[in-house]
Amino acid sequence: MSTPTRLLAACVCIVVLAAGVTLLVDLDPSIDSQLRRALADAGVTRLDPGPAPDSALVELGRALFFDREMSGRRDIACATCHLPSQATVDGLSLSLGTGASGLGPERQVDAAVKSILPRNAIDLFNRGSPEWRTFFWDGRVRAQLPADGQGRPVVETPAGFPGMIPPGADNLLAVASMFPVGPSIEMKGEDRHIPGEENEFAAVEARDMHGVWDGLMQRFLKLPGYVDLFARAYPDVPKEQLTFQHVGNALAALQIDAFTLLESPFDRYLAGDDSALSEQEKRGGILFYGKAKCAACHGGNLFTDHDFHNIGAPQIGPGMGFKGIEDLGRAGESNDAEDRFKFRTPPLRNVTETGPWFHNGVMLTLREAVEYHLDPETAFERIDLSKLPREIQQVSSFDLQNLNVMHSLDHRVATPLELSETEVDELMAFLKALTDPAVKDMGGAVPDSVPSGLRFDKLD
Ligand code: HEC
Ligand code: HEC
Repeated sequence: MSTPTRLLAACVCIVVLAAGVTLLVDLDPSIDSQLRRALADAGVTRLDPGPAPDSALVELGRALFFDREMSGRRDIACATCHLPSQATVDGLSLSLGTGASGLGPERQVDAAVKSILPRNAIDLFNRGSPEWRTFFWDGRVRAQLPADGQGRPVVETPAGFPGMIPPGADNLLAVASMFPVGPSIEMKGEDRHIPGEENEFAAVEARDMHGVWDGLMQRFLKLPGYVDLFARAYPDVPKEQLTFQHVGNALAALQIDAFTLLESPFDRYLAGDDSALSEQEKRGGILFYGKAKCAACHGGNLFTDHDFHNIGAPQIGPGMGFKGIEDLGRAGESNDAEDRFKFRTPPLRNVTETGPWFHNGVMLTLREAVEYHLDPETAFERIDLSKLPREIQQVSSFDLQNLNVMHSLDHRVATPLELSETEVDELMAFLKALTDPAVKDMGGAVPDSVPSGLRFDKLD
């Protein structure tokens, strides 16, 4: 080789080597810069928890949330299904309403009343965030910005409010909190003549929310303890002008005060602490926002797109309302056939603690719930209903209920996704990092007593 050629070869070699080094660096940036870039690309930032509620309103809400005075037969409170000791759910696949007895996973259905709800209880974490736009599995309480994106959001509710956030409601959570008292099997009750139990709501029509709300206000305002708590929370509102919207606000205030938890390892990582997540958790995060495509639906600061999808969750349970044995999900509200079997993408903070999972609790382990997404059609074939509680098997008609579920599978989950066991482990580790350790210690939310004097089993 002549000298110039040798020189040229050396130069090329150096250039190639240099290029190789940059290529290497590009291919393997630090795991933190990969995850932080994925979070930035997905637009994920720290969650705004919303304004802290007024303390007198929180104390009124604490009484109301734990008081069985809120139900027709005075046998069930909000907290019965949203237990602080059970990560704000009840640990059951399907919630059990009025008439049932016991708390948490031990709660038993009453043979006569059979109040098995069609759905799994939803957690109540961080619901004061102004980013919340859609409540309930079918989005029956929703806020939509007007088409031009300007002005107050338009609120859709099942009771036909005139379309705006009711003037007295502080936030969307307050609106959502007004509805659980309505359904007969949830809190209202329909039995008229149970000796020793007066239920003045038994005769109120199932869809007459105002009938139940007005009746409940009469009950509360007969009790001096409540008159006092309302007066402290609403010093400027005369007693006769208090309505159930004020109850909704107080219930929301308690939930925001007690259940806003934003100290998970993931939240600390978002706040800038690289050491908050382990390497496995970080790899899981990179998968979540990348190859595993979870963020296509569980995106944003709340891990939900506030939208509805059919991921082929098997149907079990009594079905929803008058619309038959199936639970049509969003279609039951929108009456749009396109929405059949679509459910609101659930948020994922503290999801390790809120099982069983899916809209009907058909998934008894979190790993099963995650793996279901990877290949719903195959997973569906393998469903083993014998693991579910007998009462649920008895009210399910599996074949009939599941005739059409797979026909409209969301395209994002329709093609099977291959992940190795190690990768699923990493995803699971990431989900675990979304849990705030304080979730194990929420007994402070529970009052010592409630103004009705009704017993409330100690929860913590
Ligand atoms: C019998 C059990 C039960 C009782 C009692 C109950 N809930 Fe629920 N809660 C549920 C179930 C089940 C869901 C999901 C229902 C659905 O989406 O159709 C739910 C959903 C919610 C949601 C929606 C959360 C979200 O992100 O969409 C809120 C808010 C809520 N409940 C608050 C309350 C309040 C406040 C009370 C008392 C007034 C109450 N609940 C009483 C079982 C119960
Ligand atoms: C097509 C949108 C979509 C994608 C993509 C998606 N999910 Fe889901 N996910 C949902 C919906 C909708 C549900 C509720 C389904 C139901 O109950 O019928 C759900 C349920 C869950 C649940 C159970 C939560 C609960 O409270 O019951 C977990 C956990 C979960 N998803 C994690 C993941 C992970 C991890 C990935 C990525 C591998 C993923 N999801 C991808 C839409 C999606």
